[in-house]
Amino acid sequence: MPTYFLASQNLHKLIEMQAILQDSGVRLRPLSEMIQMPEIDEDGDTFLANAVKKALTGARLSSCFVLADDSGLEVAALDGEPGVHSSRYAGPGSSDEQNTAKLLRCMQDITCRQARFVCVLAVAGPEGLVGTAEGEVRGRIALEPKGHGGFGYDPVFIPDGYEQSFAELSEECKNQLSHRSRALEMALQIGLLQ
Ligand code: IMP
Repeated sequence: MPTYFLASQNLHKLIEMQAILQDSGVRLRPLSEMIQMPEIDEDGDTFLANAVKKALTGARLSSCFVLADDSGLEVAALDGEPGVHSSRYAGPGSSDEQNTAKLLRCMQDITCRQARFVCVLAVAGPEGLVGTAEGEVRGRIALEPKGHGGFGYDPVFIPDGYEQSFAELSEECKNQLSHRSRALEMALQIGLLQ
């Protein structure tokens, strides 16, 4: 069974991605099983730059096929913020709750609440970069957090076609709609993961 090692410290992501890939025959393991991954400075201006940097670093250090992702929330009325700063929107080391609270504060007087989650995947191997894939899910920012599932901005993101936030929807439902599942579907379709 083809195995890829995921360069992420985020256990939620690994679990979500494993569930999405369950029927594909692709196996995902944490890269921490192979090497101690150094802290990567996600200083790129784009999700693509950060995902490629993480995949290449992991592959170089482990000589394995490494999958990395960079993802985040882009809010139209905030010119795409928090974007690549999603995980540290309220400052270095900020919690999901602090980031979400800052987002709601910034959007207090904003009626246009359109947003999208974006995920860029990169696969690299011992020979270098193999390729990349991208997925998005469009929706809107809620007026207040709702639900207890998921992570990050899930309690304030309502996907198009739904009235509940990602944190209120079931895990299966989020996994069908999410930017990560769409990026993984694209990666399977184009043979990036096989
Ligand atoms: P990274 O891709 O690990 O750098 O994560 C970026 C940040 O984007 C996370 O810390 C979350 O704040 C946010 N994010 C990415 N994907 C999701 C998601 O599926 N739900 C909620 N927040 C997310």
